[in-house]
Amino acid sequence: MTKLKIITSTTRPGRKGASIAAWVSEVLKSHPEFEVEVLDLGLINLPLMDEAAHPRLKTYEHAHTKKWSAKIEEADAFIVVLAEYNFGFPAPIKNAIDYLHQEWAYKPMGFVSYGGLSGGTRSVQMLKEVVTTLKTVPLPEAVNIPFYSKYIDDQDTFKGDASLEKSVGLMLQELKRWAAALKPLRS
Ligand SMILES: Cc1cc2nc3c(=O)[nH]c(=O)nc-3n(C[C@H](O)[C@H](O)[C@H](O)COP(=O)(O)O)c2cc1C
Repeated sequence: MTKLKIITSTTRPGRKGASIAAWVSEVLKSHPEFEVEVLDLGLINLPLMDEAAHPRLKTYEHAHTKKWSAKIEEADAFIVVLAEYNFGFPAPIKNAIDYLHQEWAYKPMGFVSYGGLSGGTRSVQMLKEVVTTLKTVPLPEAVNIPFYSKYIDDQDTFKGDASLEKSVGLMLQELKRWAAALKPLRS
């Protein structure tokens, strides 16, 4: 069983990231080899990084950090549901990443990005550079969703089409392979 955490990247009221994460989680129901949990940063509500010590020391003071650390620690793999703000990654995902260090290492990360014409691809490229510093392995296989709002109905439910579902499937295959390959490095 691969423990997969789906992490959203935005926290604003009405954020669409939560609807897209719910769809990814729904698609994963037909992949029972993954044990899935959605971590919505809008609900987790981390303050701006407020730990005194460098995260690599893992000497966390605050309950919110310890809770976040435990969630990321138990993961074998990640999918980040990534928006694009001003041609880059939204601040909340960078903040959530910066809180921790060893917990991210030797684990693969796939991206489901969304936005206008660019489909969030500039944001993905920027975040890849950050996560490699933490020894997280970002995957080239990604799901990029341009003009994402066309898949969202009046109830704020996101429903991807067959081609998006296929892209999720291809990314999952790679996530599973990388998670298995990297596991020995974490022991
Ligand atoms: C501050 C801000 C900056 C944005 N910049 C971009 C951008 O550079 N590229 C893009 O495709 N969409 C951009 N958008 C539009 C977002 O794609 C859209 O609002 C999306 O819903 C954001 O994700 P969220 O709903 O999870 O917050 C921006 C939105 C906001 C609020």
